[in-house]
Amino acid sequence: MWACERDGLARHATALAAPPALAALMAAVEAASALPAGVPHDLTPGPTLRGVKPRKRAQLTAFARFAAPLAPRVDRVVDIGAGHGHLTRELCDALTVEGLGVERDPALIEAARRRGAGHPVRFVQHTVGADAPIPLGPRDLVVGLHACGALTDTLSQLAEAVGAAVCWVSCCLHRVPGDARPPRCPPAGVPPEALTWPRDRLGLANLISREQGVEAPLDVILAARTRRTGLRHLLRGRGLAVQPGDEMNGLNRRVAGRPFAELVAAALAHRGLPPASAAECAAAEARGQAAFARERRLSLPRKALGPLIEVYINLERAQWLQARGYAVQVGRLWPAGVSPRNIGCRAWRPDASTASGDLSTLGPPAGPLSG
Ligand SMILES: C[S@@+](CC[C@H](N)C(=O)[O-])C[C@H]1O[C@@H](n2cnc3c(N)ncnc32)[C@H](O)[C@@H]1O
Repeated sequence: MWACERDGLARHATALAAPPALAALMAAVEAASALPAGVPHDLTPGPTLRGVKPRKRAQLTAFARFAAPLAPRVDRVVDIGAGHGHLTRELCDALTVEGLGVERDPALIEAARRRGAGHPVRFVQHTVGADAPIPLGPRDLVVGLHACGALTDTLSQLAEAVGAAVCWVSCCLHRVPGDARPPRCPPAGVPPEALTWPRDRLGLANLISREQGVEAPLDVILAARTRRTGLRHLLRGRGLAVQPGDEMNGLNRRVAGRPFAELVAAALAHRGLPPASAAECAAAEARGQAAFARERRLSLPRKALGPLIEVYINLERAQWLQARGYAVQVGRLWPAGVSPRNIGCRAWRPDASTASGDLSTLGPPAGPLSG
């Protein structure tokens, strides 16, 4: 079970004597989700990133390496959803260009300005949207690292309007306006509804991060989720209608890492309910273990499909740019253990450059891309 969650169902389907149709589907999904490395996955994070956590440093280094071949085409980096501004600074240094970080959160803007003191980079507070653009030019490189949901589409759209180069890694596909994501490049003859993704299906693309044990070792995460399931059963036993996830309402997520009795005590105290007896706790814990084991098994095919959704949406975004005259390359920028949201896209409009040289000749990755 654990190996299936770690490696994907396809790798263990034969050993588990999975039904042939399921094994074939999983193999097809794995093949369709495969993308080449956008940059080597063993890069050593650069020394200029002191005070930044190792996982973020690894992402910044890889992103900068991926964007570097675009340097002759750009005079400025515009980082949309800049957060603390790490990427803005990193790219300015790596590409030796000016930098502008745009971020909607005032506290983050302040932090970015503090960290960027003495650095030739500017940060502005602004909520970017198709109807709230920022002034851009054809020699800008518009970037977004983990630009959530529709923000990746917005930044591509704004860049495309002026022929600027773009480079992004997206995340949180389910953060779309409305309940669904309509297709951006519907193929002729396919009704748009057939390629419209409801928000909850898009959310499947995020599920895998937990199973890959990025935030904590996988066994620790699974133990916490087992306890949460037990807590849910206990609360339901008390007559409360508790939906999955709601059992932790009002509690810090970390409390689920404590022994089950402590988690129960905290949840009941928070809800103003009487404490549980040892027997009530033991029964709920056993129910939680059985229910969560069942849920894990049933979740395997669903989780296997998550990466495919993510690849589909990202390639569709790349295709959208390509259809507008951009040369586009897509690849995985770092190992999933660094961050499972690792699909990068770089795109440039060949005729928008005044610099000589064709990016596609600059060496690996030459592809995959595209269409
Ligand atoms: C997942 S964080 C990534 C931050 C940073 N790029 C990084 O990698 O550390 C996404 C950031 O985008 C910002 N953001 C989301 N929508 C935005 C918008 N429409 N305009 C400006 N910033 C936005 C959020 O406030 C958040 O700081």
